[in-house]
Formats: sequence, C-alpha cells, structure tokens
Amino acid sequence: MVGELIPSSVDPATAGVDFWRRYHKFRRVRQKESRPDDPLRDDADEEAHMKRVSPFQETVYYEVFRDGEILGLLQGSSVKPASPEYVSNRHLYEADIFVRSEFRRRGIASSFLPVVVELMDRRGCTTLGFWVEEDSGHEFMKWVGAESKLTAIESRLMFSEIEWQEMERWAAEGARRSPDTTLEIIDGPLPEDEWQAFSSQLSAMLNTMPFEDLDHGEIVVTPEKMRDFYERLELSGEVQHTVVTREPDGTISGITDITWAPYRSAFIEQRFTGVRPEARGRGLGKWIKAAMLLHIRDLYPGTRWIATGNARSNAPMLKINRALGFKPYRTGNEYQIIRDRLGGSLTAG
Ligand SMILES: CC(C)(COP(=O)(O)OP(=O)(O)OC[C@H]1O[C@@H](n2cnc3c(N)ncnc32)[C@H](O)[C@@H]1OP(=O)(O)O)[C@@H](O)C(=O)NCCC(=O)NCCS
Repeated sequence: MVGELIPSSVDPATAGVDFWRRYHKFRRVRQKESRPDDPLRDDADEEAHMKRVSPFQETVYYEVFRDGEILGLLQGSSVKPASPEYVSNRHLYEADIFVRSEFRRRGIASSFLPVVVELMDRRGCTTLGFWVEEDSGHEFMKWVGAESKLTAIESRLMFSEIEWQEMERWAAEGARRSPDTTLEIIDGPLPEDEWQAFSSQLSAMLNTMPFEDLDHGEIVVTPEKMRDFYERLELSGEVQHTVVTREPDGTISGITDITWAPYRSAFIEQRFTGVRPEARGRGLGKWIKAAMLLHIRDLYPGTRWIATGNARSNAPMLKINRALGFKPYRTGNEYQIIRDRLGGSLTAG
C-alpha cells in the first residue's frame, strides 16, 4: 500500500530546481520503457512547454514522490471556458498516469483517482478518458472499469524505403486528374490573412474523422487557436509545413501538414490529412501526400522515419498510408468511464 505516499500538486510555473531534477529523471525512465526508439525533448524545451499557460487548455500535474524521486505522476487536462470547443467538450476530462515499474501494484495509480474525481467535480466534467498503449495500462483500465472506445494505430514509414518514382507518378496523376486544382506548399505559419478560411475548412475536415464509440465534442479550429499553436511550436523551434489544394473558386479542398523539430531532426510527424467530402475520389489525397513527401526529401534529406496516427476504422486513410509504405508500429486505445461509475475503484482499495 502507499502508506504515507500521497499525491501532491505541482505547478510548473513556480516549481523549483528540485522538482525539475526529479521530473526530468522520471520522464527519461518513462521514455525508456514506453518509447525507447523516439527522441526526447531537451530539458529546457520540456520546461518551456510545461510552463506555458495555454488560453484554451488547462493542464495540472500531481506527483507521488519519495527521497527525491518521482514514483508516479498524474497529468490531468480539460478544455478552458475561453476555448471555442468548451461548449461541446466541457464534460470531458483526460488523465494520464505513469508509475515507475518497480513501484507498481502498490496502489499509487489508484491513489490519483480521488484527485481526478475532485478535479472533474470542480469543473463539472462527467466523462473521464485515458489513452493507453501498454499491457499494464490495459489491466489497470479493467480494474478501473473503463471501456475502450477508440483504437488508433501509429504507422511509420522508413524514409529509405520510399519509392520515389511512384511518388512522382502520384503527384503527376493528381495534377492530371484535377487540371483546374492548384497545389500550394506553405513552409512555416500560414499567412495571417488566410487563417480564417483555412481554420474553418480544417475544422470541417477534422470533424469528418471516425471517432468510433468515443464520447467526443466538436473540434473547432479558429485563427486564435492557430496563433496559439504557432506560439507553442516556436518554443522548441518546431516548423510546420502544409500542402493544400485549392479549387478554381478559391476553396481549399485538401490539406496535409507535417512538423519537424531540431530535437527530432530525423523524425517527421505527419499530422492531419483531409479532403473535403465533395472533392473525394479524384486522387487529391494521394497527390497532397506524395507532394509532401517529395518536399520533405528536398528539405530534410536526413529523415529516417515519418510517423502518423489513424483510427483503426479509418479505412481510406490507412489504405493510402499502406500504399505509401507506412507500416503499423504500435496500437493504442482511448478508454472512457463516466464519473459516477468511478466510485467502485475509489473504495475497492
Ligand atoms: C497502469 C499503471 C499506471 C498502474 O499503476 P499502479 O500503481 O501499479 O496501479 P495500482 O497499484 O493502483 O493498481 C490498481 C489495480 O489495478 C489492477 N492492475 C494494475 N496494474 C495491473 C497489471 N499490470 N496487471 C494486472 N492488474 C493490474 C490491479 O487490480 C490493481 O489492484 P491490485 O494490485 O490490488 O490487484 C502502471 O502500470 C503504468 O504506469 N503503466 C504504464 C503507463 C500506462 O499504461 N498508464 C495508463 C494510462 S493513463
């Protein structure tokens, strides 16, 4: 049992050097267990991200620590009233818990649950979500009584395995099938006068993604949210590259974007790809993806991996990704449980 070990709140804005020392040690342990192949953010970078207060998202941290070591950490997050997503997402709370392997099965993760319930109650949240990739997490979810609502696959493309001639063919074919459509590549932030049109198209496309059985709200991208996103990228010198297709009337019909960062210079994150429903079936998805890969080849020839995530039920996107050479790398599940059902696990210990 945990005994004297009780969760205590940490505020990154005021945390002292002792906290950062034990936190950086702890996150390295987690990285080694959970994502050993992935690059780790620099300490200064990580601190800057944790200290930055988002206008739209509230994030809180609680640690269980002893003798200068963090044994377990809870990160809780919820949407702020200032967010355009608040109306439809205000009932959702997201928790992430990690306990160092040598301190598991002693009730540390469960000791965070009453804290989570209080955080939810204070914000009026009624559904709790957890993202889980590891066996121990799936077992813990069973005990909590949460159900898996969405399965997502992270796929990776080895840069050295890309068939460049095929990519050139896809790009040429896309242009041939849609001769009146133009393709644009934007390096870095989009020009500010395009944020309004871009964010409304992006929102519409994002909300067509399959969410399986997940209790979810609407995704609302706005110019203010784009500014916030760009400011966050700047903290670690991250760069976004965007490919869009535009129809003759100026409408954006397809979008794909990636990010690159100095701390993971050989590792590209492929973010969202979407084509407006009425523009589907013309090869725009393949065109924008191929154009992006050809652009990455020019900009970042030292790339090793490109990683992307999709719902397991997203057949069209997975089909394009498999044809590009993306292979499944790991699977994760989003679990949810309603607040009133959490009572059982709070008293079970
Ligand atoms: C999941 C995790 C946080 C659990 O931490 P923990 O401190 O060991 O959990 P607890 O001791 O509070 O476990 C509570 C109950 O959950 C169940 N449980 C937890 N881990 C389990 C496991 N590996 N196998 C089977 N049951 C498990 C047990 O019923 C346990 O009670 P018991 O030990 O009395 O039988 C930890 O294993 C971990 O950090 N895993 C990797 C990260 C992760 O997957 N996090 C979950 C996503 S938020």
